[in-house]
Amino acid sequence: MYRVFSGMRPTGRLHLGHMAGALTNWIALQEDHECYYSIVDWHALMSDYADPSKLGHNTAEVLLDWLAVGLDPEKCAIFVQSHVKEHIELHLALSMIVPLGWLERNPTYKEQILNLQNKDLSTYGFLGYPVLMASDILVYKSHKVPVGEDQSAHLELSRETARRFNHFYGKGGEVFPEPEIVLTHYPKIPGTDGRKMSKSYGNSLDIADEIPVLDKKIRTMMTDPARERRTDRGEPEKCPVWDLHKFFNGDGEQRAELANGCRTAGIGCVDCKKALMVHVEKRMAPIQERRRGFEGRRAELDDILHEGARKARARASRTMDEVYEVLGMLKCKAATSHSC
Ligand code: TRP
Repeated sequence: MYRVFSGMRPTGRLHLGHMAGALTNWIALQEDHECYYSIVDWHALMSDYADPSKLGHNTAEVLLDWLAVGLDPEKCAIFVQSHVKEHIELHLALSMIVPLGWLERNPTYKEQILNLQNKDLSTYGFLGYPVLMASDILVYKSHKVPVGEDQSAHLELSRETARRFNHFYGKGGEVFPEPEIVLTHYPKIPGTDGRKMSKSYGNSLDIADEIPVLDKKIRTMMTDPARERRTDRGEPEKCPVWDLHKFFNGDGEQRAELANGCRTAGIGCVDCKKALMVHVEKRMAPIQERRRGFEGRRAELDDILHEGARKARARASRTMDEVYEVLGMLKCKAATSHSC
């Protein structure tokens, strides 16, 4: 059976972009793959080290969102990265062999340094972001990694790292399979201002937003900018609200009617948004109910993470024993594993 790993940084509540993109794929994969899904708190610390005060809280929020949308702890391992120490052990081992040039040339690295000017990211840890990411993936000997297009440079670095490790220590064979990217074909989910949905733009519709909040955000959401008055004709393909219809509204006949109404100025944007809200409520209300159900069950949430980490460690520690062995390091006298 193929093994799958993916992770998200705990930056707070997730939004519909996460749900339509990555999470849809993750949920599908848990049905017939051995899946490891991790809230990667060490990765969050790499950029937020100066103020980690929200790290624990944000981790819990991500867990609630994951469970609400349908990740199932019976079907996959759901855990916190820092609970499984093997990630950081492999990170150190891989950091021996990853050439600095790979990290310095990484386009995502350069981009982040430019984008996050308010943070000093010229640290040893942040430069090694892709090394930790490779460790996350390789410590489970993962075959597939479902992520968005924006992660493809990182993934390529993981593949090169696996290859280099195999070249040095594989004795002609391979210790690590080269992980394959499983691209999520993100249906475009724009934010309320028409730009890409993002927490940092303040334009997001969050999974945890109550229905009245979603309703309010959608009511003031941007539409086809060329349609200024009710009597103007609109073009759905230029309207961010229309992208939400494509995601939420499975009723093809109604969509055709709405598109026609928009193009002929037969209906106004308010009508179109009202129709959308019916579908949003139908999809999101049960998700939010599930979220609220979990909110009160602290002990159960802790159990889910504990059990997830246990499952993950069972796999990861086997890999690490093999790593220590191929690295030729002297084993502790404890017979079952490399270290005590
Ligand atoms: N870099 C990813 C992001 O920012 C998060 C991540 C960390 C990840 N480790 C991973 C994703 C391993 C996939 C596999 O979204």
